Amino acid sequence: MSFKNFKVVPKMIFGRGSFAQLDEVLAEERKRDDDFVVFLVDDVHQGKPLEGRVPLKAQDQLIWVNVDEEPTTKQVDSLTEQVQAHAGKTPVSVVGLGGGSTMDLAKAVSLMLTNPGGSAMYQGWDLIKNPAVHHIGIPTLSGTGAEASRTAVLCGPERKLGLNSDYTVFDQIIMDPELIKDVPTDQWFYTGMDCYIHCIESLEGTYLNEFSKAYGEKSLDLCREVYIDDHPEKDDKLMMASFMGGMSIAYSQVGACHALSYGLSYVLGYHHGIGNCIAFDVLEEFYPEGVKEFRQMMDKHNITLPKGICKDLPDETIAKMVKVAKSLGPLWHNVYGDGWEDKVTDELLTGLYRRI
Ligand SMILES: NC(=O)c1ccc[n+]([C@@H]2O[C@H](COP(=O)([O-])OP(=O)(O)OC[C@H]3O[C@@H](n4cnc5c(N)ncnc54)[C@H](O)[C@@H]3O)[C@@H](O)[C@H]2O)c1
Ligand SMILES: [Fe+2]
Repeated sequence: MSFKNFKVVPKMIFGRGSFAQLDEVLAEERKRDDDFVVFLVDDVHQGKPLEGRVPLKAQDQLIWVNVDEEPTTKQVDSLTEQVQAHAGKTPVSVVGLGGGSTMDLAKAVSLMLTNPGGSAMYQGWDLIKNPAVHHIGIPTLSGTGAEASRTAVLCGPERKLGLNSDYTVFDQIIMDPELIKDVPTDQWFYTGMDCYIHCIESLEGTYLNEFSKAYGEKSLDLCREVYIDDHPEKDDKLMMASFMGGMSIAYSQVGACHALSYGLSYVLGYHHGIGNCIAFDVLEEFYPEGVKEFRQMMDKHNITLPKGICKDLPDETIAKMVKVAKSLGPLWHNVYGDGWEDKVTDELLTGLYRRI
């Protein structure tokens, strides 16, 4: 048996107002007068106060990114070309400012600036050959754990799969809880539940170990303070929960909910957060306590999920989702342990999807 050699984010700043330190952090990367920085910023912030706080110098490039659809390899390739065309040289840092989608775009662009060919070539594990350009993640929406992980999830021509590598990990993250205060309730809930579900899947899984347990348990406590206790410092707590949930799954694995959710997302286009919520709601047999508490949280925040989505879908559409869900071996291995292949049948998965 060999153990994972987990690359963690080497530098992080945490605290209210810490976004103001971005300029200082970048100053260390800017060595020559014409060195430039690329800011990939979620366009939800366009025209908002945050826009004026981006420490942009004359030679820098600010690109507003739209994440109405989750990131694609095509989008990454076109952003990379845009950056390459900016100054005829490589930027000294790529900053991603937004939710999981924007952070993943920044990770992917920083990798594609130093690795030849299109990003779809690198969907998989450890296919990246060259170190990325220095890259910084700054969440304005918390839950995915993308700030902590070694993947950048992309929808490609054939599948939704991340660029998983040690080089994908951010060189720096800045976690400023003030940046998430205006997220609309539904989105705050869906993305926050991504974190809650990471914890449940990690803690209930066969891959669990003391490292993942330490992060997962603490993250779960923080989620409860946020979504049940309505703690006055809930933004700080959710931001930390997201990071710790990411750390937990990085050294274990996600489970049944993420497997179903990937199918929903690939075939029907549901976004990660809401897709997870919809899938989790039919998984009481897998995660009885977790699903019960999740429903309490939904009630408390008046969240209603779409129902009956898959009930009347053609068999072949369900079969496509079943295929995606079934292909995620490590997730099912985490759920059932050895011999998962016999347990994860088409009937089981079809039955679950039909209830969604
Ligand atoms: N890399 C990883 O480890 C990892 C893990 C889980 C999920 N993901 C990926 O992350 C993506 C989902 O990320 P997400 O759930 O954070 O959502 P997101 O980044 O897709 O954003 C969701 C919505 O929230 C808006 N938003 C972001 N910040 C806001 C703010 N401060 N105020 C108001 N609106 C704001 C965005 O504009 C968008 O409309 C998916 O593509 C998923 O595949 C990656
Ligand atoms: Fe997730």
